[in-house]
Amino acid sequence: MESMTFVLFGATGDLAKRKIFPAIYNLYLDQKLPQPISVIGLGRSNLSHINFQEKVKESIITFSRRFEHETAEMGDFLNAFRYNTLDVNNTGDYQKLLHLVKQREEELQIKENRMFYLSVAPEFFDIIALNIRDSGLGATNGWKRLMIEKPFGHDLQSARQLNKKLSSAFEEEEIYRIDHYLGKPMVQNLEALEFANPVLQSIWNKKHIANVQITASETVGVEKRAGYYDQAGAIRDMVQNHMLQMLMMTAMNLPKKINASEIRNEKRKVIEALLPVKKEDVHTQIVRGQYISGEINGQRVPGYKDETGVDSDSNTDTFIAARVWIDNPFWSGVPFYIRTGKRMREKSTRIVIEFKNTLDLNQKVEPNLLIIEISPGENVSLQLNSKNPMNNGNIEPVRINFSCEDSVGNGSEVPEAYERLIYDALIGDSTFFAHWKEVELSWEWVQPILDAFDENLLPFHEYSSGSYGPDASNSLLLENGFKWWLDE
Ligand code: BG6
Repeated sequence: MESMTFVLFGATGDLAKRKIFPAIYNLYLDQKLPQPISVIGLGRSNLSHINFQEKVKESIITFSRRFEHETAEMGDFLNAFRYNTLDVNNTGDYQKLLHLVKQREEELQIKENRMFYLSVAPEFFDIIALNIRDSGLGATNGWKRLMIEKPFGHDLQSARQLNKKLSSAFEEEEIYRIDHYLGKPMVQNLEALEFANPVLQSIWNKKHIANVQITASETVGVEKRAGYYDQAGAIRDMVQNHMLQMLMMTAMNLPKKINASEIRNEKRKVIEALLPVKKEDVHTQIVRGQYISGEINGQRVPGYKDETGVDSDSNTDTFIAARVWIDNPFWSGVPFYIRTGKRMREKSTRIVIEFKNTLDLNQKVEPNLLIIEISPGENVSLQLNSKNPMNNGNIEPVRINFSCEDSVGNGSEVPEAYERLIYDALIGDSTFFAHWKEVELSWEWVQPILDAFDENLLPFHEYSSGSYGPDASNSLLLENGFKWWLDE
């Protein structure tokens, strides 16, 4: 891998501490970092290089899955880190940064390859990108790349405005938009499951599949993020990005070649084929809800409106269920149901594929299901029907598990999403990053829903904490003769 500089904006923030430093350290231990590397952290506070290295060390000790004890190797790793105070609006600070970057490039004989990771609030993305361009930091003799994480805009219009600014400083191929769901091993495994298994590939279409159910339920509430969440709701926080990304990964077709641009092309075709929901029809396809108090794992928790920082008359959605139709020859007529919510009964991200039941038996049998558990467990299982000798030879469903955890080792050996994604960006592989077109088309699909919410054109359901969401979400499936699988 080519030598490079990793410039981290927001280096004193929470994400850097919990995820980014541990991820870089784990990559270093796995010899997946270029040698030499220069890492430059930026933040508003005044820190010496040594103070900063101490902070990085603390974060690794607390959060790295690989930390056991301090070693000389760790000292070498920390030596690569430098710090520069930076006010994002101060052009002089970018000049100081440029000076430090160049000085380290010379000292370490590093090529002018520069990765800019913006671990900052989204309102600073554009100002930082433009300053990178104007200061000369972006004028390199090597490559330059930008890594950012959602939210990319608040609606279609603001997303477009942001992208216009970003693309005046970076080419599309240079922008790595993180959607951490695309870093989850099981989401990455979806393409292999379908493409490397002729058995599955041949039935991955409307002829054999009755419906697809994608769930991301959480037990946590709004936590300490009311300021952000109350403006966003589940529709912006989860549906516009993670849920639609999982849908694209599930429904895409086999590309001619397996590479980043072909895969992204195929994903784009899926999102392009989504049937738009008209503002007036939103109430027939979308269910929105908000949690009220209830019990989760034996503990009483407050309702959303009583959470710190939330308006007592807030009508922000903490739950969304949607029926989505893909209008192409492979999927037309197959409903894709997505559902996500906070304060639900269990933490589970999973995809359930229900196959059509074409048998004409004198006994009713359950459909075949393919169940892909994405988190917290990583597992694939198949529900088949089998005779039960203990029950008069009646046909009953059995589940066959293919535990992926067994094949990849225990939890601490599996790279985390941020490790995978940072590594991919360092080697220039954009397969598991969101392309602007995917982001834009997702916003286009979501926008009428946002409008309908704003104009209050659909019912607002309350659901008890610890439940599977409002009853209306069950009706959405019942209307087509289906039910949510795996709800107890
Ligand atoms: C984030 C959302 O993108 O994803 C959070 O902003 C949510 O609200 C989180 O809790 C869920 O991620 P995971 O990996 O825990 O399923």
